[in-house]
Amino acid sequence: MARNGLNSSSTPAQEFTKSKINKENIQKISALLAYIKPYKSKFMFGMVFLLLSSVVGLAFPAIIQVMVDVATDKAPKYGLPNSINQIGLIAFGILFIQAVVSFFRIRLFVEVAEKALADIRRDTYFRMITLPMNFFANRRVGELNSRISSDLSQIQDTLTTTLAEMIRQVILLVGGIAILVYVSGKLTLFLLAIMPVVVVAGIFFGKALRKISRDAQDKLAESNTIVEETLQGISNVKAFVNEAFEASRYDKSLREVVKIALKGANYRGLFASFIVFCLFGAIMGVLWYGSFLVKQGDLSVGDLLAYIFYSFFVGAAMGSFPEMYANVQKAIGASERVLEILDEEHEPISMDPKNNEIKHVLNGDISFKNAFFSYPSRPDIAVLNGVSFEAKAGEKIAIVGPSGAGKSTIAGLILRFYNLQRGSILFDGHSIEDLAVTDIRNQVAIVPQDVILFGGTIKENIAYGKLSASDKEIEEAAKKANAHQFISGFPEGYETVVGERGVKLSGGQRQRIAIARALLKDPVILILDEATSSLDSESEKLVQEALEVLMKDRTSIIIAHRLSTIREADKIIVLDHGQIVESGTHKELSQIQEGLYKRLSSLQFEYQN
Ligand SMILES: Nc1ncnc2c1ncn2[C@@H]1O[C@H](COP(=O)(O)OP(=O)(O)OP(=O)(O)O)[C@@H](O)[C@H]1O
Ligand SMILES: [Mg+2]
Repeated sequence: MARNGLNSSSTPAQEFTKSKINKENIQKISALLAYIKPYKSKFMFGMVFLLLSSVVGLAFPAIIQVMVDVATDKAPKYGLPNSINQIGLIAFGILFIQAVVSFFRIRLFVEVAEKALADIRRDTYFRMITLPMNFFANRRVGELNSRISSDLSQIQDTLTTTLAEMIRQVILLVGGIAILVYVSGKLTLFLLAIMPVVVVAGIFFGKALRKISRDAQDKLAESNTIVEETLQGISNVKAFVNEAFEASRYDKSLREVVKIALKGANYRGLFASFIVFCLFGAIMGVLWYGSFLVKQGDLSVGDLLAYIFYSFFVGAAMGSFPEMYANVQKAIGASERVLEILDEEHEPISMDPKNNEIKHVLNGDISFKNAFFSYPSRPDIAVLNGVSFEAKAGEKIAIVGPSGAGKSTIAGLILRFYNLQRGSILFDGHSIEDLAVTDIRNQVAIVPQDVILFGGTIKENIAYGKLSASDKEIEEAAKKANAHQFISGFPEGYETVVGERGVKLSGGQRQRIAIARALLKDPVILILDEATSSLDSESEKLVQEALEVLMKDRTSIIIAHRLSTIREADKIIVLDHGQIVESGTHKELSQIQEGLYKRLSSLQFEYQN
């Protein structure tokens, strides 16, 4: 249970869905098996070693049998010599072979599975991040993450362990029964009468136990979610003095865990009693009836000993099948989820960075023609209702309007995160759909509304705009974005680690990093979505100056709430409820008496004074 740390709470349903094993599903899985192909010869060798180790394992009780027979003055079977020493040596020889074979079996299977899995993981990850935005809209990050982590681990387990184990157990089962019959038909009839009862009961118990331990895990994960949530929002908990409330919530959840764990303990206890009584009872029964046969002279002592060993093999093999079957089912379920990603239509972006380079250089004209749009996750709500505007190359176009009007949505559409329902977006007169998505995104830079920095150094975060940038270029960009000063204030300067495990930057600092990132990219089209909203007036002025330099000679789309920052724009578009209600220069719009722009700007003016 201790394994259930915080991590599992992000995926409370640790349970893997099982899928039927049928022809269609097997075919699906074989798509994944193709990943083993490059390592085919190693896999084959592994198989050979697996077969060898199973057969050798099967031979071992026979050696013991003959050894005891020779010791009790019976004739040796299977053509083995009539000497304890020689048999002992043969036994050690077999053990040695078994040891060597086991090593290579495990080593080869693990190598094949690890390498194939890394290939699948890499491809799945790449597919995942090249999927269109609307794929992510309906899915939680934790759930997608679990496909790459737990789903693929399940497949890996099945490939490395279950598959090999299944083959081994089949050999042990078939070989074991054959030898049992060979050693003593009478005892085997007796055994076959009691064994299935024990095995079926064992399977039943196993199932019930697994279900309860799963429930317990889910409950524990639930309680861990409480811990995670409160720790993440600890400042909220404290600010509202809700410590006692959270503690009692956690306590309640823990009581549930204990209740289920106790239920599980009942089953576990019963299972232990059952094992003691039935399983050992069955062995006792064989021993009892077997001793009787030995006494009658039907069986040798060695035979009886070997018999017990083989019964163990057969019983263990029978008992292991349900679990292995369940594992294969889980692996099929996991494969389906992974294949769902691999089969999903993705954006045409190549794994080879060379193929993603700019092929068609943009001039910078953008025009929206009667654009209608709603987000795929909420198709009933129209976000843009026939938006038309034009930005000539090099112009500064400002978009203003109330919160929720659709401003950031326009920015996302320019980057082709989504497709329009109706109307069109043109770049230099070409429809966005006729241009390569990489050509657009490579030449458009955005300073987003909510800047997210990656874990890593400040330098790496700025270089995200141009991976090949030199230190000098990075510093240059930071200087222009008015970020150099605060960066050099840190003891580690540009090597300061930011993100989860590093320094937390303020909103304004993050914005300036994002501006530096965009500067470094040197785009044809620049989108600033509230790029200076988190800055104080002093820094805003400085950054604004930097942005003026940045905006020169490129098309700029400036989204702003603070209207003072966009007075100089060539055109201001006023957006409300997904429609353009006014457009023109600051001067023109200020003259519309009942206009939205005038109202917004006078409100801000009052506010500021
Ligand atoms: N990913 C999304 N999925 C579904 N709906 C969305 C998504 N993003 C935004 N919306 C909705 O689209 C509408 C417009 O959002 P948008 O972010 O474009 O507004 P905005 O004008 O940028 O507002 P703000 O000034 O507050 O940033 C809102 O009603 C919002 O709820
Ligand atoms: Mg916005």
